[in-house]
Amino acid sequence: MRVWSLVLAVVVHAMLLGVVEMPAFAQGVGNPSDRLDKHSFGNPDVAVVRHVDLDLTVDFATKTLSGQALLTIERKSEGLLVLDTRDLTINKVEAGVTADKLAETTFHLNRADPILGAALEVTLPEKAKFVRISYKTSPQASAVQWLDPARTAGGKHPFMFTQSEAIHARSWIPLQDSPGIRVTYKATIHVPEGLQAVMSAEREPRGKDGAFIFTMNESIPSYLVALAVGDLKFKEIGPRTGVWAEPSVVEKAAWEFADTEKMVEAAERKFGPYRWERYDILVLPPSFPFGGMENPRLTFATPTVIAGDRSLVALIAHELAHSWSGNLVTNATWRDFWLNEGFTTYGERRIIEEIYGKDVAQVEEVLGFGELKEELASHKPIDQILHVNLEGRDPDEGMTRVPYEKGALFLKTLENAFGRAEFDEWLKGYFARHAFKTITTADFVADLKANLFPKNPQAAATIDLDAWLEQADLKGKYTEPHSPKLQAIRKAADAFAGGLMASSIPTNDWTTHEWLQFLRALPENLPQGKMKDLDDAFGLTKRGNSEIAAQWLLMCVRNNYEPAFARLEEFLTTIGRRKFLMPLYKELVKTDAGKARAKAIYAKARPFYHPISVDSVDKVVGKP
Ligand code: BES
Ligand code: ZN
Repeated sequence: MRVWSLVLAVVVHAMLLGVVEMPAFAQGVGNPSDRLDKHSFGNPDVAVVRHVDLDLTVDFATKTLSGQALLTIERKSEGLLVLDTRDLTINKVEAGVTADKLAETTFHLNRADPILGAALEVTLPEKAKFVRISYKTSPQASAVQWLDPARTAGGKHPFMFTQSEAIHARSWIPLQDSPGIRVTYKATIHVPEGLQAVMSAEREPRGKDGAFIFTMNESIPSYLVALAVGDLKFKEIGPRTGVWAEPSVVEKAAWEFADTEKMVEAAERKFGPYRWERYDILVLPPSFPFGGMENPRLTFATPTVIAGDRSLVALIAHELAHSWSGNLVTNATWRDFWLNEGFTTYGERRIIEEIYGKDVAQVEEVLGFGELKEELASHKPIDQILHVNLEGRDPDEGMTRVPYEKGALFLKTLENAFGRAEFDEWLKGYFARHAFKTITTADFVADLKANLFPKNPQAAATIDLDAWLEQADLKGKYTEPHSPKLQAIRKAADAFAGGLMASSIPTNDWTTHEWLQFLRALPENLPQGKMKDLDDAFGLTKRGNSEIAAQWLLMCVRNNYEPAFARLEEFLTTIGRRKFLMPLYKELVKTDAGKARAKAIYAKARPFYHPISVDSVDKVVGKP
């Protein structure tokens, strides 16, 4: 203890002497702990960024983006402009009263915080409204993945894409990277000949020099700014829907997502008008770290949802639902993340119910509830809370099933208490009242109390807001989701566990979700003979469906079922979706032999994963 306080005293002393550079917050600027958003150095109370105009060159040889960000700012009070950055090289900063008359100004890039990156402080001349930053990204930028041609479907052209949520936008654009701050944007993107650029924005005619030009005229939070560059083709699905993908994938994708236009129509009936004109889907290479990302006008999606039977399209319903919950009404801070994901998970199931029927929606609810129960049993109490405190932590850690499933269950509970008609009217109103705004959990509560609770005080009395929002576990009263269809599947799993041969189970008409339920309902430990019986009867190791494969492989690791280990290695070295990787690696490292296997596989796989997945897997397996 003594030694540490001595070290601390020496370091602080050195800071005061200016030998060691002080972190930004120690200098009294951009201190996130004083602000609503603990994950941004931005100081919107002094100067707030309203518009971003990017001019970037995409260079595959150096794996960098370089160019300029011209920011339009609104001044609120005297002081410096503070922006978020991570691993950016800042070459020059200019400022001025008009965009065409800029002069160089002084700036200071603070020492980087390991989670938040480095605050960039810019001195603002009097009345300056425009700031232009000339910069370059690092090849390690946390948002960006650079893929060699071999990692693409076509194998001929390189590919790059960004993933800005939660706080990765700052690794490719210097801005106030807080979901509480909305911006419009324009972008001019220079790419090598033969490649296409796409963004979460409207496409403009290409520039004279061939550059791609995009505009986003609706204000959005920074985590929704997105870019991808590659050998991409477009195919229309409906009047305002379509898919972008590599040429060899685009037909399959268009077939898989054929119901998208219907989904947009269903969502509009439930949630109000679609405010983004187009809804297109970009299918990425398999290293995309998520299932989907709701970038406005252009959802980014993993190719692992293309199952060939449309069985995983709930993911599209989910990302589409974000066009209301998240993109239109945005969580003000990452503490309020459940407002994005809980509403969206609820909304996703309403869309599914409308198009595929109540029984399909019920199946998803039951599976989701099962996942929630499992996670509640494994997380610390502080991570079981909807209004979770993430101060001092990476907000990506908040991405558990809790905000999704506990959030959705809470909204379902409100629906049940007030009746669907009353609840739907409130929901539509909620999206309308907060459109293009950012809100906190407290704002949500105020809206409920003003607009839903007075409609039926008796129903309101049954809702314990504190239990739902601020307490661990499931303290609010709820009705457990139920699906008669899955009930039968559970019985089949019990019968198999009790000795029935796999081949006697009638599985012919099972959907992906029924398979998942079956596998999840089996005992965790199965003898080799039972594993082999399952595999022989159902060809599970050979399955291409990513969800079923991931679930089966997890069982194989748990039960040390060797015939599946080659498939496990293939899976982990070709798919970079974090949701599949994490349970598998976590299960592997539980034994010495598994740990060795995990390390060997990860050494091969790591160069192929996106930085976000690398960061997560490093924490489990260690750096190779
Ligand atoms: N917005 C999320 C993805 C996300 C959350 C990225 C937090 C980074 C930080 C997206 O809408 C999402 O929830 N995707 C899910 C799929 C969905 C069907 C549950 C995913 O990727 O698994
Ligand atoms: Zn989501």
